[in-house]
Amino acid sequence: MKALITAGGDGTRLRPITHTQNKHLIPIANKLMLAYALDYASDAGIIEAGIIINSGDTSIAEAFGNGDSFGMKIEYIEQSAPLGLGHVVKIAEPFIGSDPFVFYLGDNILVGGIKKFIDDFIGHGSNCHLVLSQVPDPNRFGVADVQDGKIIGIEEKPDHPKSDLAVTGIYVYDSHIFEAVNNIKPSARGELEISDAHQYLLEKGYSVSYSEITGWWKDTGKPSDLLEANRLVLDNIKDERKSKIDSASTVSGRVVIGSGAKIINSNIRGPVIIGENVTIEGAYVGPYSAIGDGCAIINSEIEYSILMNDCSISNISRRIEASLLGSDVELLRSKSKPVTHRFILGDQSRVEID
Ligand code: TTP
Repeated sequence: MKALITAGGDGTRLRPITHTQNKHLIPIANKLMLAYALDYASDAGIIEAGIIINSGDTSIAEAFGNGDSFGMKIEYIEQSAPLGLGHVVKIAEPFIGSDPFVFYLGDNILVGGIKKFIDDFIGHGSNCHLVLSQVPDPNRFGVADVQDGKIIGIEEKPDHPKSDLAVTGIYVYDSHIFEAVNNIKPSARGELEISDAHQYLLEKGYSVSYSEITGWWKDTGKPSDLLEANRLVLDNIKDERKSKIDSASTVSGRVVIGSGAKIINSNIRGPVIIGENVTIEGAYVGPYSAIGDGCAIINSEIEYSILMNDCSISNISRRIEASLLGSDVELLRSKSKPVTHRFILGDQSRVEID
């Protein structure tokens, strides 16, 4: 069993963060998004993974190298342009060969890993195994039409979904999927749709089995999805404190505090993760916050937010909430008069003030 993991695409919904970095390198609870996928694959006993990257993108290989740290051998496969998930599978055929494989969208996060789904695929002896999840908004996804415990059709982003069962970003295939992706045509949006490949398999009489995710699963397309994924991962963290907290500070709930952190006269209310060499002084850090390495939070309050490395927040009077800050961002109270709002924001930044 091999793994094929995506780390390409445009990430348009996560701009401006994705103007300067690949979305799969955004940290969720201080761990790179794609590292979750690699951990799940490794935990499932997979030792060979192909990662799809955009043409010319070296950032993913810089982060994960040859896969040694995951006990895997990683091969990077360049996609000329984001031409759809069917296209991703098509160009991976030389890497996959005739092996069965798990196809995993690198922006999906779930609890419990993927071993169970691989076992289910093997147990069913099917050609294709889909992982479904009940969602409130099925029209955003590929949707499975399930009758009497069998998938009888798949529709991509239907206006009138036949069920609330979304096809998640975890699929297990045998090599018949290559026949499918080599026979389907691009959709109206010009992409080779993976849902069309699944529909092809169904129409040709190949067996398509499924599992339903019972725990949580998140497809992290938008900033709000990242915050939710961060919340869900933080809900499962174990307390680990590698730095001292001064006597004027209180820390409650489960927190991870990295080495070299200074917590001074502050209130930390978990679940929270604080990276290495972070300074928190005269501050409140509330539930579901992930604070990257080298950040400073001074005389300010923050909750339910993600700060990437080396951010600095000081003397902000209102609590910051539901925010996503890229690396090296500064938020500070102006010292000079007149007191005004002053912004230096990249393209497609978003600021909400009262
Ligand atoms: P999407 O979330 O559908 O697309 P995207 O990441 O480009 O984001 P946006 O819609 O905001 O522009 O992609 C799902 C996953 O598949 C994600 O890991 C990116 C990856 N992908 C590729 O690697 N190649 C592709 O051709 C496409 C369409 C997606």
